Amino acid sequence: MESFSLVIFGITSNLAQIKLIPALYLMAEKNLLPAKMKIIGVARKEQSNDQFREYFYQALLNLPNQNFKPKKSVCKKLCQKLFYVSGEAQNKQLYQKLHQQLHQFYKSDKHNLIFYLATYPELYQSIFQHLRLEGLNEQSSGWVRIMIEKPMGTDLKTAKHLNRLLSKYFAEDQIYRLDHYLGKETVQNILTFRFGNGLFEPLLNKKYVDHIQIISAESFGIGLRGGYYDNTGSLKDVGQNHLLELLTFAVMDAPAQFNNQEVTKQRIKVLQKLEALPAKVVFGQYQGYQNEERVNKNSQTETFFALKTYLRNNRFRGVPIYIRAGKKLAQSVTEISIIFKTPSNRLFKHLDSGMEPNVLTYRIQPNEGIVLSILTKTPSHQLKLDQTYMQFCYRLYGREKQLPDPYVRLILDVLRGDQTFFADAKEVELEWAFIDKLLKVKRQTYPYQPQSWGPKEANQIIEQDQKTWLTPSPLVCPL
Ligand code: BG6
Repeated sequence: MESFSLVIFGITSNLAQIKLIPALYLMAEKNLLPAKMKIIGVARKEQSNDQFREYFYQALLNLPNQNFKPKKSVCKKLCQKLFYVSGEAQNKQLYQKLHQQLHQFYKSDKHNLIFYLATYPELYQSIFQHLRLEGLNEQSSGWVRIMIEKPMGTDLKTAKHLNRLLSKYFAEDQIYRLDHYLGKETVQNILTFRFGNGLFEPLLNKKYVDHIQIISAESFGIGLRGGYYDNTGSLKDVGQNHLLELLTFAVMDAPAQFNNQEVTKQRIKVLQKLEALPAKVVFGQYQGYQNEERVNKNSQTETFFALKTYLRNNRFRGVPIYIRAGKKLAQSVTEISIIFKTPSNRLFKHLDSGMEPNVLTYRIQPNEGIVLSILTKTPSHQLKLDQTYMQFCYRLYGREKQLPDPYVRLILDVLRGDQTFFADAKEVELEWAFIDKLLKVKRQTYPYQPQSWGPKEANQIIEQDQKTWLTPSPLVCPL
């Protein structure tokens, strides 16, 4: 059995508290942590290993997710793996202490290292430099992998700079750029559904598809993240990463094989062909946003965006793609809808709903599933059409409880050395290239009522094309 250490820089950060700590707990609960694994938290605050273990336990008890009930027995087991090293990221003593700690664990035995950077990106350079100075990035006695999260730059220039910095210290196969949407079961299932079945793939092209809609709506606001959010906005917060990745899953060509190289290649091919249409972007801001904590009183930062794009490839040329995302919208829901063309010779076109299109929906969350809207006959002596659904719902099979936590899955992937569901350097740069083009034009931010579907101006983007935004249906995998 190999030895591993997961070193988390910034263990007291919000990211670590709400994502990493619970993921590590879930891994311990499911016995997914390798037996010889140590977890080393790093932060500025001075504290002992025991104080850190208590901090870890308290973080679990205080999670915003009320359903999360940590078991003492699991925490006890997990605590045996937890260690703490304090220090300033810019100070070489921190790395010396870390080195000593690792040496105590392994002496000169083979061991593998994952460095997870849950810190401000401004600290990366200093962390990398010091790791190198201490020889902690050397792979002589086991592999070394590095995990980072967004923001991966704030535009193309800074993303390139970050990639250059990373490549100075690590090879691409050591770098794991985490986008937790790539770790979602319901997102990965899109590939299984599309490429594991023979039925749908032949229909997913410009001959049959009228248009595509993606929505990522959240009913809540920015909470206490004003400081970050006000400098970022919705398009960069979720558009550049999660939403573009969702699109790649929905429209990519079949990878030659199901492995990192081939799947990433297909995601990249999509991003290369994406057409930025700056005139087809609308920004919104929920009323009351400017009064949120740590938000500029005159802020024009968007909490909503809607955009239209096209793919300049043979398969989808001319098929419009509409993407919307926002905070404080009418409900929390993320889904991708493929709206099929309606042939003009439909037999029942004269009946009510007779020309309703078939829609294939990947419901990412909540009420997860894959659903096809169809027309059937309403049971009666008359001929009436019923708009209904053929549904695969996780809930129906009790599977929603088995949906793996994306962080658990992605940490496991790093342990296994599988980068299939991590963004690579070029991918991130292509995403930024697209977003930068949209942001070149300074645009107005339209106010919208909280708990609505965003500003009415967003309707124009789609109504100009004689189409309408779909309202996510409560009949998709209902409770
Ligand atoms: C994060 C964004 O990356 O993703 C948040 O910063 C957003 O603003 C979150 O709320 C959405 O993730 P999920 O998994 O809750 O849909």
